[in-house]
Amino acid sequence: MTETLGFCQEMRPESCGFILFGATGDLAGRKIVPALFGLCEKKIAPKNFYIVLAARTPLDRAALESRLRASLTKAGFFPSRESFRAFLERVEYIQADYDSEDFYRNLLKRLGALDALSGVKKKRLFYLATPPAAFEPIAGRLKSCGLLFDPGDRSRWSRIIIEKPYGSSLENAASLDDGLKAAAAEAQVYRIDHFTGKETVQNVMALRSANSVFDATWNNRFIDHVQLTIFEELGLEGRANFFERMGLARDMMSHILQLAAITAMDLPATFSDTDFKAEKKRFFESVRPLDREAAAKQSVRAQYESYRDEPGVAPDSAAETFLAFKFQVDNDRWRGVPFYVRAGKKTGLKSTRIDLVYKKPGRGIFRSIDIGYPNVFSFSIQPEEKVTFSLISKHPGPKLCFVPRTMALDYRAEGQEAAGYPTDYERLLIEAMSGDQTLFLSSFEIRFLWEFLSPLLEAWREAPEANPLHPYPAGSPGPAAAEELIKKDGRAWA
Ligand code: BG6
Repeated sequence: MTETLGFCQEMRPESCGFILFGATGDLAGRKIVPALFGLCEKKIAPKNFYIVLAARTPLDRAALESRLRASLTKAGFFPSRESFRAFLERVEYIQADYDSEDFYRNLLKRLGALDALSGVKKKRLFYLATPPAAFEPIAGRLKSCGLLFDPGDRSRWSRIIIEKPYGSSLENAASLDDGLKAAAAEAQVYRIDHFTGKETVQNVMALRSANSVFDATWNNRFIDHVQLTIFEELGLEGRANFFERMGLARDMMSHILQLAAITAMDLPATFSDTDFKAEKKRFFESVRPLDREAAAKQSVRAQYESYRDEPGVAPDSAAETFLAFKFQVDNDRWRGVPFYVRAGKKTGLKSTRIDLVYKKPGRGIFRSIDIGYPNVFSFSIQPEEKVTFSLISKHPGPKLCFVPRTMALDYRAEGQEAAGYPTDYERLLIEAMSGDQTLFLSSFEIRFLWEFLSPLLEAWREAPEANPLHPYPAGSPGPAAAEELIKKDGRAWA
């Protein structure tokens, strides 16, 4: 086992009750239930820990158990009889009526009883895996029925986790956030973007902080441009209802902006929640907004050709399944360095990556020869977990002959050494149980997200001729217009 160096922050989840609202929904089934099971299975769940699943659907115990098993199997878990039993022992189901005070009062009593049974001292994490319109009414009732404690009280706590989409427009997101704030203090609200919980995304920060050779060159003196790619092989996966309303830009912009911030923000003085968020905020404040004119010139929206044949999709749907755009950051570090982004569904492969492309050599023998961009620092976030640096080396043999080479650090091999490390959702649940908000989004970030996104959406909606919805074949890396977006600047996608 490799020895760790000096700085090693441990996750310390406190014993608590976990209450999942919307427990029969898609998010709960695909992500939250498997993450809860994973935490128990990997023995990183807190010592005393119970789970209350709540949803409107009436479910008896047998139906609950078979649903849980199905969702674990779908997520790739095949638990032994004993470990499934052990998980079930922690779980109970309550039929919810989110609009009725009686439901919350009964919940309050039940949680009191479960606290006593499990040795949990009034510490509760509420996960609202519900549509965003329900966040405010649920939070309000949690508060009025005594389920939200005063955040200043150190002996007990209650926290609320919410999940994107944080609204559907700037106005709607602002009113949703105001409503939430009326019930819960900012210190109690944990807004998830699961990309921040990915092991390799955290590695970007770790590498930058510990290896000054990288971070010191990540600026406009050395870097020509930055590329962010979030490609998915999958299409809708039965989520037409959600996707038809959202489209890819609303669905993915939070992930894109988080990747951009983690790559390009200045390093915080410490990894404390406050320092980290303050630096991230400064970065977002430097991102130059895309106005409608810029949207037409610097963004491409597209839809894969068979999208309208998917069940539940309107025959004239204008929902985009692909987005490419360019943006600039107006600060001393990045002024003049374009950031190019591509994100799409059905692009033929799953690939989330960050590429920092260094400037071309322009001196000496390379003054008049263009050898492209020899140095690219790349983070493959998923499915490969790799850090690579490409460079030019001498070809062995002839007197002086150059060849491209790549240095690689396979993070997966390291990961195997640390077997049982948490997945993105598992990590974020643990962080919330530890009371650490560093990886969660602030209210400012939600507002910024919508301020950034809105002109783009408006331009698409109100000037469709200037912003056409391009078709692209399913299984291809997007439309020709996305190639053109970067090509017209004399560059190419990595
Ligand atoms: C979710 C989006 O937030 O992220 C999905 O709603 C998308 O549409 C998913 O597929 C991608 O996440 P991951 O972790 O599977 O890459």
